[in-house]
Amino acid sequence: MKLLIDTDPGIDDAMAILFAARHPEIELVGLTTVFGNVPVEIATRNALALVEHCGLAIPVAQGAGQPLELPPFVPPAHIHGVEGFGHLPAFTPARQAVTESAAEFMTRLAREHPGEITLCPIGPITNIAEAIRLDPEFAGNLKRIVFMGGALDAPGNISPFAEANSYHDPHALEVVLRSQAEILMIGLDVTMRVQLQAADFAALAEAAPHDGGLLDGMAGLYLEFYRSIGQEGCALHDPMAVIACLEPDLFEIERIGLTCIVEGEETGRTLRHAEPAQSAAALDCDAARVRALFLDVISGA
Ligand code: BDR
Ligand code: CA
Repeated sequence: MKLLIDTDPGIDDAMAILFAARHPEIELVGLTTVFGNVPVEIATRNALALVEHCGLAIPVAQGAGQPLELPPFVPPAHIHGVEGFGHLPAFTPARQAVTESAAEFMTRLAREHPGEITLCPIGPITNIAEAIRLDPEFAGNLKRIVFMGGALDAPGNISPFAEANSYHDPHALEVVLRSQAEILMIGLDVTMRVQLQAADFAALAEAAPHDGGLLDGMAGLYLEFYRSIGQEGCALHDPMAVIACLEPDLFEIERIGLTCIVEGEETGRTLRHAEPAQSAAALDCDAARVRALFLDVISGA
């Protein structure tokens, strides 16, 4: 499966990218970056560092530094850290991003491989909205979009109503949801059901020092954040979107129209929408198998 990940790394983004890089059935064809957990320049640096860490020779294209219409915002440092990877110091990758923007890169890639690219946005979905506006054929050229974001029946994680990615660019999510793309939403309804604890990261570090050790090094701050909201483990948000690209049967999926509220106190809230659409949302999952798959792939089992 040819997979393009649009990302704001970010600790769980790193987990998702390592999973994609190590899974034998995934051909990771590139990374595009967006603001979110960190400013976009740091997201790009971190994406390049992850590509180097994995020994891949794939392009990284930098995308949007701010939402389509909402004012720019300063990422909070207490979840992913100032540099994006928890308490780890800033990485200094040798390679640079390509000169194409994220939207230019993804539209070209989809045009060159019509019907083959699965696009997996795991940050605010701004770049995908920009790509849809840039190339009217883009949505139709993709195989499908599987995005991490939104919450239908589950409560929000940045407001009582909204998940963080949809909250940070609800206008972009509306553009994507109104496009002709085949869309699967992996939101908090499922991602809060799979969690990793400190002992899981320690076990990964022991089994696979290179990859597990990196994630274990990042996880401390993330786990501290979850502890501060009363949870002993961190959610597997972004890796679950990648897992859904590969193993949709691990999820209970409902085919429904979707919409996102773009203003007021419910900004970023995702809702079911009467209009027929090519969209679907995951409402439940086989948490034990999702968790086992992630741990197996990272530990090289
Ligand atoms: C999403 O928000 C970000 O903090 C995570 O990386 C994930 O993409 C979860 O709401
Ligand atoms: Ca993310």
